[in-house]
Amino acid sequence: MKTIINDTYFEKINRDAIDFYNAHGWVVIENGIQGDLLDDSLESWERHRQQCAKEMEISFEKYKQEISQWRDLWTLGGIFREILDSSESVRAIAQKGMDWSGIRLLHDHIIAKPAGSSNKKIPWHQDSMFWPVDLPGCSTWTPLEDVSIEGGCLEVVDSSHLEGCEKPIDFMAEERWDFPEDSVRVKLPVKAGYTILLHSLTWHRSSPNSTSSDRPAHIGLWVHTGVHWRPDMVDWHPLNDNVEASPGEQLIGEMFPTWGVVEEIEKPDQDIHGGTTRTGGISMFDASTILGNQIRHILNSEGNLSTLLNDEENRNIVASKTISKGFAQESDRKTLTDILERLYICHAAYVLHRARNVFNATYADWWEIAGQSWSKTEINYD
Ligand SMILES: [Fe+2]
Repeated sequence: MKTIINDTYFEKINRDAIDFYNAHGWVVIENGIQGDLLDDSLESWERHRQQCAKEMEISFEKYKQEISQWRDLWTLGGIFREILDSSESVRAIAQKGMDWSGIRLLHDHIIAKPAGSSNKKIPWHQDSMFWPVDLPGCSTWTPLEDVSIEGGCLEVVDSSHLEGCEKPIDFMAEERWDFPEDSVRVKLPVKAGYTILLHSLTWHRSSPNSTSSDRPAHIGLWVHTGVHWRPDMVDWHPLNDNVEASPGEQLIGEMFPTWGVVEEIEKPDQDIHGGTTRTGGISMFDASTILGNQIRHILNSEGNLSTLLNDEENRNIVASKTISKGFAQESDRKTLTDILERLYICHAAYVLHRARNVFNATYADWWEIAGQSWSKTEINYD
């Protein structure tokens, strides 16, 4: 696959930009979140994550190393609602780009890519694989700081939105690289506040961030107001809990606000993709459930990951049992207890603030050092 660096930018979402988007499956708009809106967004996010760390009673340093995704920010109001309501900003770019008279938010989030231990890549994927709805949509990807190539910028396979959708792939498994030879990978370094409008069928990824900045990006996920809910295809997605409709019906609910005209739309003749396939072992679809079961069994206690692992004594017991089973060495004790503390931070952040480690790094670390061995034993964790 050939790789090029993008040099096409549009000041705003005009006819030329829309034509470019339709042909390529992505377009960069300079007027995304600009001026005061940008400063406000960055400040509000900083304040929000500092507040979250405080509520969890952990140091901001530890929090920053572990937590990389904050969901449903628009529900906090203020600037995060303002940028969606604005007729110039991210929501307007999505709506005009898709040529829709109305639009529905599936959800929003900020993803940071902090330099350091939890700094992983996001493998090649199409967003539609992970959305429990029956039609494609788009996302707006707007970094709040400049993102260079070294900063883990977005990379796309040009015009790949024209090829349909594959089944959900697991971010914790091997990455796909088998694109047709004549495919073109475009790297998209962008300035702070530029918006990349991305079709939900466009294959994309990002590399690790090797700069010293945290690289936060605001991401809005957008669908047509009439899309239907298909929880059967993406049964693990947390947004399934918020839908106020029956499977197959128009996706509605308080957590899915709309702008403009709300319309009904015909169901497609064919499913958008073949649904989630599980291959056993740990996956991004089930990691927290599997690990919750393991920790409950090891401790022979009820509770969830965060209530059980908040207790330092419990973390020591899990480490001791893992070592006495021969799954890890005595010299691994500190690593084990550190991972268990990070598991607590991950789970508690989700329960309290719908924030998490989007790269699943801590789940993968536990799995590698101990979880995999525990999973091969009979359910006898004494
Ligand atoms: Fe994505």
